[in-house]
Amino acid sequence: MSRTRTAMLAALTLVAGGTGMALTAIPASAGATAAPCTVDYKLNQWSTGFTADVTVTNNGAAKSSWTLKWTYAGNQQVTSGWNAKITQSGANVTAANESYNGSLGTGASASFGFQGTYSGTNAVPAAFTLDGVTCNVDNGGGTGGGTGGTGGGTGGDTGGTGGTGGSTGGGGTDPSGRADNPYAGAKVYVNPEWSKLAAAEPGGSRVSNQPTAVWLDRIAAINGVNGGMGLRAHLDEALKQKGSGDLVVQLVIYDLPGRDCAALASNGELGPNDIDKYKTQYIDPIASILSDAKYAGLRIATVIEPDSLPNLVTNAGGTNTTTDACSTMKSNGNYEKGVSYALDKLGAIPNVYNYIDAAHHGWLGWDTNLGPSVQEFYKVATTNGASPSDVTGFIVNTANYSPTKEPNFKITDTVNGQTVRQSKWVDWNQYVDEQSFAQALRDKLVSAGFNSGLGMLIDTSRNGWGGSARPTGAGPLTSVDDYVNGGRIDRRIHAGNWCNQSGAGLGERPTAAPAAGIDAYVWVKPPGESDGSSSAVSNDEGKGFDRMCDPTYGGNARNGNSPTGALPNSPVAGHWFSAQFQELMKNAYPALP
Ligand code: GLC
Repeated sequence: MSRTRTAMLAALTLVAGGTGMALTAIPASAGATAAPCTVDYKLNQWSTGFTADVTVTNNGAAKSSWTLKWTYAGNQQVTSGWNAKITQSGANVTAANESYNGSLGTGASASFGFQGTYSGTNAVPAAFTLDGVTCNVDNGGGTGGGTGGTGGGTGGDTGGTGGTGGSTGGGGTDPSGRADNPYAGAKVYVNPEWSKLAAAEPGGSRVSNQPTAVWLDRIAAINGVNGGMGLRAHLDEALKQKGSGDLVVQLVIYDLPGRDCAALASNGELGPNDIDKYKTQYIDPIASILSDAKYAGLRIATVIEPDSLPNLVTNAGGTNTTTDACSTMKSNGNYEKGVSYALDKLGAIPNVYNYIDAAHHGWLGWDTNLGPSVQEFYKVATTNGASPSDVTGFIVNTANYSPTKEPNFKITDTVNGQTVRQSKWVDWNQYVDEQSFAQALRDKLVSAGFNSGLGMLIDTSRNGWGGSARPTGAGPLTSVDDYVNGGRIDRRIHAGNWCNQSGAGLGERPTAAPAAGIDAYVWVKPPGESDGSSSAVSNDEGKGFDRMCDPTYGGNARNGNSPTGALPNSPVAGHWFSAQFQELMKNAYPALP
């Protein structure tokens, strides 16, 4: 949780982009005979790169394997692909089926995609052949332009009507077939295991039917820890809860090598160099389960690796908040490789919606942290096989306590000629709350090259700050500090405090499309689950003892050397902490009935 301001980085050099284009299609034959095959080729491009989503439909005899070929008119170069084996020789490209999508019956389609580079123009190839036979090119229109979702085109088979824009809108779909905002019009999965713990608490039934995320926090969680529900059990239950409507299942992907490098409380099972294990024993099995056709009707929202990339930006290599563990993860590249791999693998599944974790305003809200963070996110989403089309959006405030909105002061307020940015609490941050941060971050991400339809999530599970200590109006105008301290609903001792915060309450209940650019308020951190133990407790999960969870500790550089504000007598991270759950209910805002 840093606020370090290091050397100014140059302004982003990436050209604003991500604006898809509808490209002209060769008109489908007007003749009565159906073409032997059709190809739908959708481009999403930025200044020097692009991704393409290709769907080939076979109208001829059934096939058990297939090869699609085309020739580029320009200097396009494919750099990586998914769901087909793609090779390029000069301008000629060949895409051959993978073992799992070779079978193509009459009328059936296969889809694959790839990422590439280009300069100059990036025209859709004029002709495609499927096993030597020429196909009709059937473009489905653009990927939407700007925020309005005005895409549209010549009516392709996956529906070129949606566009990716307008993330506050209702039920649009983007060219991949994904909903623009998966939460719009959908229920969200209630985890029966959390629900039972909550319901067993006095008064807990007031919230036990709320949806919370399922944390896949170790390899064993895929099959279920100690007889608990594994991923398939959750998805099977989700199918039941879904009924005939739409339902979002929220999964947290959280097992990177060298996890939680700036703290100790959520260190994990994998060592700093265990990237292969992460790929083959964690991400691959999850991807394989999520690809099961049985679950194709679920909308699966993933929260990708909380805190990891932000730690690389602010807590690694030469800042006053650097830790050796974060420097190691920066220099070995395994956070970046792991996140790219997760985005790529999970993003290849059409009903998965990836949201990358972007910390919170009290961590990244200084321009000198935010600019480099945007660059880091873009780098990871465009290397090692990942592409911006793998990213539905970003999440802020995961497991943190920053308010969605500070109702009693704004970043632009001044007192006696001093801006609130000069107050001790705000400390030159550019934001005072999560919603303004999320919306501004969204704009910067789109400018850097992410899709214009990007949607943000805010974890509101524990940022309510209600109860008797909540200020009812603005603070006094005697000084900028009096004004901010008197008015702020965030009652933490320091905004860098993160462990089991005393005085916190449940925040906004999960809500779809609550504000412009925000896909949903969500409860990702399950209320009642500890952030870390207040004293050393031995465990077999790899979790350490972080003194930020000890109420007697005086703090470190990441919280301005302030007391931690943590509740006493807390258990290991992730374990049930009844006293905290009770306090969260007591201080809920909006209040519970
Ligand atoms: C912490 C724990 C993790 C748990 C999660 C949700 O990050 O380290 O084990 O699943 O919180 O409570």
